[in-house]
Amino acid sequence: MSEREQSPRPRVYVTRRVPQPGIDVLSKECDLTFWDSDEAIPQDVLLENVRGIDGLFCMLTDNINTEVLEAAGPSLKIVATMSVGFEHIDIQECQKRGIKVANTPNVSTDSVAEFTVTMLLACSRRLLEGVDAVKKGQWGKWKPMWLLGVELHNSVVGILGFGRIGYGVARRLKPFGVARLVYSDVTPMGYAADLGAEYVTFDEMVRESDFVCICCNLTPQTKHKFNKKVFEKMKNTAILINTGRGGVIQHDDLYEALKDKVIGGAALDVTEPEPLPKDSPLLQLPNCIVAPHMGSNTWPSRNMMSATTAKNILAVFHREDLVGEVV
Ligand code: DGY
Repeated sequence: MSEREQSPRPRVYVTRRVPQPGIDVLSKECDLTFWDSDEAIPQDVLLENVRGIDGLFCMLTDNINTEVLEAAGPSLKIVATMSVGFEHIDIQECQKRGIKVANTPNVSTDSVAEFTVTMLLACSRRLLEGVDAVKKGQWGKWKPMWLLGVELHNSVVGILGFGRIGYGVARRLKPFGVARLVYSDVTPMGYAADLGAEYVTFDEMVRESDFVCICCNLTPQTKHKFNKKVFEKMKNTAILINTGRGGVIQHDDLYEALKDKVIGGAALDVTEPEPLPKDSPLLQLPNCIVAPHMGSNTWPSRNMMSATTAKNILAVFHREDLVGEVV
């Protein structure tokens, strides 16, 4: 009898150590194998370990390309990523092979929206410069014009991508006394009216905003959307926050714009590439803060992301609806 016949339970491969809730969901019904590490799986090991699986539980760091799908073979029914973003998966190739793709919408909305506000406030109030000055013994007597920042009060906030996270950011920022909320997206969103947020062109948004939050996915349309030409249209005091995807910003142009004070500052939780090399010139700029893609780093979010990924896998085995069906 072949190994496959002895084991009717579907085989699922998990490409990382992940929070327990997802494991609990899957282990009842599936045979699970893991890349038992907190670090990303090397591509050659992934290719080896996916052979003959029915479901793949993957991360945004895994490149799920034709080669991986081919290595998995015809048994593979579902690629479920423990992320909202799915640009690391070859969607067309999955579709061609009749493989479902699922993500984890909703469950990290609050954590990422909160972190976007955190980054915005930290950058606009120059928090890290202040903390650094204290550590370096540069904190002298109180000075009237030291480390001055800008306020949200009376400001214009622009949001690129008014989905759940964009809306969540706007909702949190409004009580700060923001004068105007504007957003740019592929289409106006009905729910924007709840907050009085105005749908404007991308051009108007970048020209008018004191703060611009990037809350969109990386697509061919958003790739390097923020570049030299766009920075030149922005206010020279504007603060740019990116918690979407690094590739939305052309980073060499951003460096020049920050260095030459074409814009006021930037707070990046996502970069191109990731990780950002430690010799990146962006890290030398006082008006740029960079975090290591940690927008959804909370226990509630990560537990839910893990459980949702697992449920999406089971849903395919059970022929039920998926929570985050991409295709
Ligand atoms: C996602 O879910 O795509 C985030 O970038 C990871 O938190």
